[in-house]
Amino acid sequence: MKKEFYNVGIIGGGLMGKEFASAAARWCHVTAETPTPRVVGISDPNPEARKWFEKLPELKYSVADYKELLEKDDVDVIYVAIPHNLHAQVYCDIINAKKHMMGEKPFGMDYQANAKIMKAIKNNPDVFVRCCSQHPYYPACQELIRWVKSGKVGKIIEVHSGFRHSSDLDLSKPINWKRTISINGEYGCMGDLGIHTMHVPFNLGFIPKTLYAQLSNIIKERPDGKGGMAPCLTWDNATLICDSVNEKGEEFPVFYETKRMAPGCTNSWYIEVYGVDCSVKFSTDDANGFWYTENFGKEQAWCRVNIGYKPAYSTITGSIFEFGFPDTVQQMWVAFFRELDGETVDFKCFLPEQTQLAHKLQTAALASNLHKVVVDLDTFDANSI
Ligand SMILES: NC(=O)c1ccc[n+]([C@@H]2O[C@H](COP(=O)([O-])OP(=O)(O)OC[C@H]3O[C@@H](n4cnc5c(N)ncnc54)[C@H](O)[C@@H]3O)[C@@H](O)[C@H]2O)c1
Repeated sequence: MKKEFYNVGIIGGGLMGKEFASAAARWCHVTAETPTPRVVGISDPNPEARKWFEKLPELKYSVADYKELLEKDDVDVIYVAIPHNLHAQVYCDIINAKKHMMGEKPFGMDYQANAKIMKAIKNNPDVFVRCCSQHPYYPACQELIRWVKSGKVGKIIEVHSGFRHSSDLDLSKPINWKRTISINGEYGCMGDLGIHTMHVPFNLGFIPKTLYAQLSNIIKERPDGKGGMAPCLTWDNATLICDSVNEKGEEFPVFYETKRMAPGCTNSWYIEVYGVDCSVKFSTDDANGFWYTENFGKEQAWCRVNIGYKPAYSTITGSIFEFGFPDTVQQMWVAFFRELDGETVDFKCFLPEQTQLAHKLQTAALASNLHKVVVDLDTFDANSI
């Protein structure tokens, strides 16, 4: 290990900023060799949002303007979790200030914003940049990834990767920034949830070649929180069907499903790989369960293994216990800091070039849905839309 500590500043003290600070605060949980993050700074224009962070023992800087954090020589890494319309400017400023960065998805509000961030990354090759996506770090999902990589599934028939929420079925819920085009972006649910569904297929080397999208805006008005109604023009649900190819040159469809109106789903993230020899699946609805098929001649039976607490990076928790969402966040950050520190990492955090591909898919999805056509991704010019 090269460095014992990295000093981290957080930009955006909302939901995800707190999740990281909490994971860092219990770093003693991790027994695997890894540098320790020290949360030394928080930036948020809202003093109420900063208050929660001010109780952290190592916090030195609590500032409204994020540029103040970027000027601090003793801040090595920035985690940035802010609304999508601010990504391009703030991410570029962070990278140009030579701070290593974990950015949040969608990594730019649209393709053009993402291109600006990619340019800043290209101009600063000494800066380490990754994009947040924690769900694949469930041990049962890691087991699924190992099975697919080992070739046990045989020739792939199809892949389903999705993220289903249902909170928008509550029609009395006031609209927030994730439901407005000006702040969330045109992608709607895809910008919010899409990268989560692409991490495992992309890391497994499944390259999308064509795309057909079905997008739905089911509820077009929502309470504005002030007694009236506001237009809600963002996509609620999206299904992308991509003809894809793997490293062996095999072709198969990958279905990317992102839904904010999926009855019965609180936060259901899932990945299913169907193969000729064997199929495997994982869902956060059954976080400990790794499912695979056993072949009995003409029939296949689903088998469930209770994986328990066996994460990629060892911790103090016994292997018989249950693994949960805060653990995925911490494991992802271990992967981030190990890679930053020069270690080899089996399953990497989402890469900047993968965010660019994600944007190409999501932009192509808007075009596909508009014209009701299949988009050839090899020739598609995402700047044309
Ligand atoms: N990885 C995940 O599972 C996950 C989950 C939810 C959200 N996200 C992503 O995290 C990001 C933030 O989402 P959230 O749910 O935490 O939002 P949030 O609304 O809870 O928090 C955003 C925070 O950013 C602050 N902010 C606004 N402008 C700022 C500025 N100029 N400088 C500093 N802070 C500023 C706001 O005051 C707010 O406290 C988004 O990109 C979102 O897509 C990721």
